[in-house]
Amino acid sequence: MAVNFKHSKLGLGTNKVGGHNLFDNLKDQDGYDLLRAGLDAGISILDTAFVYGLGRSEEIIGDVLQDYQRSDLIIATKAAQDPKHDLQLTNQPEFLIQSVNAALKRLKTDYLDIFYIHFPDKTTDKRLAVAALQELKNEGKIRAIGLSNFSLTEIKEANRDGYVDIVEDYYSLAHREAENNEWAYLKENQIDFVPYFPLESGLLTGRYGALDRAKFSRLTDESFDRAIQGIEVLREIANNHQATVTHIVLAWYMANPSISHVIPGARDAAQAKDLAKALTIQLSKADYQKIDLAFK
Ligand SMILES: NC(=O)c1ccc[n+]([C@@H]2O[C@H](COP(=O)([O-])OP(=O)(O)OC[C@H]3O[C@@H](n4cnc5c(N)ncnc54)[C@H](OP(=O)(O)O)[C@@H]3O)[C@@H](O)[C@H]2O)c1
Repeated sequence: MAVNFKHSKLGLGTNKVGGHNLFDNLKDQDGYDLLRAGLDAGISILDTAFVYGLGRSEEIIGDVLQDYQRSDLIIATKAAQDPKHDLQLTNQPEFLIQSVNAALKRLKTDYLDIFYIHFPDKTTDKRLAVAALQELKNEGKIRAIGLSNFSLTEIKEANRDGYVDIVEDYYSLAHREAENNEWAYLKENQIDFVPYFPLESGLLTGRYGALDRAKFSRLTDESFDRAIQGIEVLREIANNHQATVTHIVLAWYMANPSISHVIPGARDAAQAKDLAKALTIQLSKADYQKIDLAFK
């Protein structure tokens, strides 16, 4: 079932909060500062995972949470990488239960708003994995059951009892595959959708141009070229709003009824504060459609 949080649709991705195993030259203090900057500027959703710093991101968020009203915030985390077995993926019910309990400790809270199985494994019956999470939901330890990086077939298998609430998958204006892959099923089954890499790792901030092709190897040539052209459309709309390309992109996701909320990642406090300005943008229907067309 859909999650129906009453929060604004802007969240913060936190893989650069304590994610020392994923990114070079990160400082914990920047993580603390960017979280506070984002929350103080009106962001109320945080998306983390065990694998971001092998628990460090969750610990830093847990410290910061103590200074905010817990019930005002949506906290999402994920697990599937087993630290006792070289981060091998596992969805075993026992492992998921231990992961939720350990995440609650690191986050210093008594419930998670969303817990995602971060990646599917190859062997566990997905229905049993989700049934274990349903138990945790009944106990009040998690409020919503999520899946991340599951194919449509895997989502269907995991949702045989109708317990799945939310799916997080790679999606951006430059990479819209999820629209054709899983959105129809999610809508039919009232499952929410959260895109990750919404800024396409910086490309959709307008900071880069055609010469930076090599930095964005995830995209096909066709998607990259379309994005470079689309950014000019975003720039024009941004100028009319006295805003930036980043704000307009985020406003487009927030206006999209198929998207539950958006979780751009920030590297420091200045970026987090800046991201929050997207909350002030109201796109007209005409602008929304213009952007939609430019990236199709
Ligand atoms: N479920 C999954 O498997 C999965 C996978 C990946 C990510 N995620 C989640 O999704 C979140 C978002 O993904 P992401 O952070 O990797 O990519 P992203 O949101 O597409 O891009 C984030 C990057 O955009 C740039 N940026 C952010 N704010 C900016 C601003 N105000 N002005 C200019 N540039 C700005 C920064 O680039 P620079 O660092 O270069 O400055 C930042 O690192 C993650 O934090 C994580 O929570 C989930």
